[in-house]
Amino acid sequence: MVENKASKSSVILAIGGGFIQDLSTFVSHIFHRGIKWIFIPTTLLSQSDSCIGSKCGINVMHYKNQVGVFHAPVAIFIIEEFLETLSSIEKVSGLGEILKLSLTGENQFYSDFKNIVKNGSKLQNFLPLISQSLKAKKAIIEIDEYESNLRRVLNYGHSFGHALEAISNYKIPHGIAVLLGIDIINYLGTTWGITDVSYYLDIQKVIKNILKIESINIEIPKFETIELIEALKKDKKILNNRINFAVLKCPGYIEIISKEIDEQLFETVEEYLELSELFSIT
Ligand SMILES: NC(=O)c1ccc[n+]([C@@H]2O[C@H](COP(=O)([O-])OP(=O)(O)OC[C@H]3O[C@@H](n4cnc5c(N)ncnc54)[C@H](O)[C@@H]3O)[C@@H](O)[C@H]2O)c1
Repeated sequence: MVENKASKSSVILAIGGGFIQDLSTFVSHIFHRGIKWIFIPTTLLSQSDSCIGSKCGINVMHYKNQVGVFHAPVAIFIIEEFLETLSSIEKVSGLGEILKLSLTGENQFYSDFKNIVKNGSKLQNFLPLISQSLKAKKAIIEIDEYESNLRRVLNYGHSFGHALEAISNYKIPHGIAVLLGIDIINYLGTTWGITDVSYYLDIQKVIKNILKIESINIEIPKFETIELIEALKKDKKILNNRINFAVLKCPGYIEIISKEIDEQLFETVEEYLELSELFSIT
């Protein structure tokens, strides 16, 4: 992060992934009550998803995104060459957010993504999806920049994803936690009669293929269901013990469903964790 002068005319140049982006958004927002910043995202996740949307989230204690502001960079430059040095885990993590965006966007996007995952593992094959992802996200944030309504669909996979990140003490990278979070909410969606079982299984197959792509080895620490539920309760969107989940009805259509964090939710999550292969294949 480079800052030229400590004045209102200062510009921060941020080069890095989503972590650097969150930090730069926050710092440039509070410094002199707001200065300009420019972002050069260097990870697949930040190039395809986080670089647009103006948001930042800073963790407090070990809970996710408890402090945050909206403060957009004045310019973003995407330079694909940065991705050449990315580790396998960070590539797979980027695919987590791309999968999410492919399911919020037009059906063609999800089909394209699925085919690339099935046919080839080279990062090169995924590069065309960066602009498709940004287009899908732009379509949402242009309607609802400050997340009062439609933008909440972008939380798909994130409620449980954030909880998993927190209980793993951030050993599970964000995008991989989102992949696992998508599978959990899809399962819950089937039990609520919202997500068709065929979509749950189809997306689960894609998630398994993504996790196999780079032969990564992510260790998910053993945890009890209650730990996951307690971490879920720290979600900043909880109100009166209720949480708004983004639930998939079908690819391209996500509904926001308010649910109480009660015994029934606990039991369904426990049932999922007992059945799930995803928590053992990684
Ligand atoms: N503000 C938002 O809208 C938003 C959205 C999604 C995620 N996030 C946040 O972003 C973070 C995840 O971002 P990320 O996936 O970009 O990871 P990251 O920024 O945490 O970077 C992951 C690792 O990759 C390294 N790295 C970065 N660029 C590299 C390159 N070109 N070559 C080799 N190594 C490189 C970093 O040094 C780091 O070790 C999480 O903290 C998440 O909460 C923010």
